[in-house]
Formats: sequence, C-alpha cells, structure tokens
Amino acid sequence: MPDTFISKQKGQINVVLNQEEHAYDKPISDQKEMLTHHVSLEKIEEKLNHFIGMEEVKKTVREIYAWLYVNRLRSQYHLKTENQALHMLFKGNPGTGKTTVARLLGELFQDMEVLSKGHLIEAERADLVGEYIGQTAQKTRELVRKARGGILFIDEAYSLARGGEKDFGKEAIDTLVKQMEDKKDEFVLILAGYLDEMDQFMEMNPGLPSRFPIQISFPNYNEHELAHITNQMITEHEYKLTSEARKKLERHLKLKFNQHEKTFSNGRYVRNLVEKMIRQQAVRLLREGVPDRLALLTIRSTDITIEESKEKLYDAGNSHRDASMATQRGTL
Ligand SMILES: Nc1ncnc2c1ncn2[C@@H]1O[C@H](COP(=O)(O)OP(=O)(O)OP(=O)(O)O)[C@@H](O)[C@H]1O
Ligand SMILES: [Mg+2]
Repeated sequence: MPDTFISKQKGQINVVLNQEEHAYDKPISDQKEMLTHHVSLEKIEEKLNHFIGMEEVKKTVREIYAWLYVNRLRSQYHLKTENQALHMLFKGNPGTGKTTVARLLGELFQDMEVLSKGHLIEAERADLVGEYIGQTAQKTRELVRKARGGILFIDEAYSLARGGEKDFGKEAIDTLVKQMEDKKDEFVLILAGYLDEMDQFMEMNPGLPSRFPIQISFPNYNEHELAHITNQMITEHEYKLTSEARKKLERHLKLKFNQHEKTFSNGRYVRNLVEKMIRQQAVRLLREGVPDRLALLTIRSTDITIEESKEKLYDAGNSHRDASMATQRGTL
C-alpha cells in the first residue's frame, strides 16, 4: 500500500461492523496496523514462493488477499462490500501439489483472517458415502462440522458421481451443495481430482460449476521444475550432489518428463527418488567405513539408482528419431 494512500486516510473514524474484531476493522489512521498487514502479505508470499511453479495458485492467493483488503477498507467508508464464496476446484495429475496447496491455503486463509482455525480435513468417497439411506447425509454433515473454521478437502471428488442417480454419492453431493449455501462463511470446500474426470464431474451436475468460482489447474512439472524441486528437497535434507550426480539426475528427469507416463507422480516421484538416494548413500557409507562430514553430505552418482538400461534405449531411440526428422527436413 503506497504511503500517500495511508496518509490520506489519517483521521478517519473506523466503524466496526462485526462484533468479532479483525485487525482490518481497526482505524485506518493506525499506520502501524496497516504495515503489519504488509508484513502478513510478505509472510504469505514467502510461504508461497517456497513452492516451485504453481503460478496459478500464487496469482489466485494474491487476488483473494487484495480483494479482502479492499473490501475491508470499503466497509470503513460505508461502501458496499461483497461476500464471495471461496470454494475451489483443483484439477491435476498425481503429485502436482494439490493436497500440499490445500494445506497451505488453510494456513494462509487463517493469516488473512478468512478462516478461524485453518486446519485441513481430508476426505474421500468412503468418508462421505454411507451404506444405507440417510447415513450419507449424516456422514457428510459431520465432516462439514469438523471442517468448520478450516478447509474440507475432498480428493478424487469425481468418484462421488460414479454410481449415477441411484448411488449414495449423489446424496453426498446434494448435501455438500446445501452445506455450502447454509454454512458459506464457515468453511472452504475444495474438490480435487484429475483434469478430465473433474470436467466430466462438473458436467454431470449443472448446479456445480457456478458454486466453485475458483478453479485451479495443477500442470505436470517440466524437467526444469522437477530438477528444481529435487534440488530444494536435497538442500532441505542437508545433502549435496556431486556434479556427476547432478548430471545423471537431470538426464533422468528429462527422460521421465518426456516419457509422458500417465502414472507419473511428479513431486511425489521426486520425493521418493530423493529418499531412495539418501538410503543408497547410507548403504555406501556403511560399506566404506567411518565417514567424515563431507562424506555425510555428499551424494554421488552411484547413489542414484535408476533404470539405466531403459534410459539408454530411450536416448538411442530419441537420437534415431531426431536424426530421421532432421533428414525429413533436409538438414542432414
Ligand atoms: N511445487 C512443489 N514444490 C515442492 N514440492 C512439491 C511441489 N509440488 C509437489 N511437491 C511435493 O510432492 C509431493 C506430492 O504432492 P501432493 O501430495 O500435494 O500432490 P497431489 O497433487 O495431492 O497428489 P495426488 O493427486 O496423488 O493426491 C509432496 O511431497 C510435495 O511436498
Ligand atoms: Mg493429494
């Protein structure tokens, strides 16, 4: 917020509209308070910047922050304020960070005073759908109750629509929709799942899309982002890669990215890979004798066990394909 704007507001008398006192409800003239909020935005950005990629998530959080901020200032001028629902849809492949972001949003929304607790209740079909009539609505309402002040995150949400009209999944959806209306300001609902399935799910119920004003895509990480995430994890664990290990790793991540496997689990794949490297290094160190500090820190290329043979085949296939494409273009 620019200084000029802050000084213009000097002397304004604040009207507290809600009984519950928010920091935003305090007098605008209280510059110190305003600066505190810049600190809170910085804190939020710092938390977000820890995550590689995720541009859509970062943009959405900034938008929400700005909207809340302006809304609260508007209320001090007796201008109309909007009450927007913050329910969301997350669409993306495995390991693209959906659960991680939902958890983070809980914290951020608490910082922004949107949510009182900011906790995350994770649920899937079995947590919502019962076995007899009436049980589903009860189970679903109970979950919403637990999520009050926080986020209710339903993974693989499309599975609720799996059984069609007669399935209790439909009852869960109907109950959720009703709870979203009745308890709008008490919790944030996030439905997550793979892109195609979530799109199909939304099409099945015409009332659904408009109830989720915020839809965020979680794209697969590219090879550079995968390498960046890996390096971050390695540093966090206090390890270092030798240059040979780094090359091997980057080559492998490039291969994984280019393979476009449907089951590729992005960030989770990388986490597993890093954990495996750490175990492999430990086995090597045990074999080598008592290690010094540097040895304890260092991960060598031999600690990275990946299916080399497949990679060689792929590289060979790729260079063959590149060569034939180049021949077709007449460049060879
Ligand atoms: N941008 C990122 N930066 C750092 N780590 C990440 C990032 N994205 C994902 N990860 C890591 O990848 C792992 C998997 O992420 P997460 O569980 O959030 O994925 P998901 O989209 O919920 O997967 P699924 O659809 O399988 O439930 C976590 O350990 C997380 O910390
Ligand atoms: Mg998940």
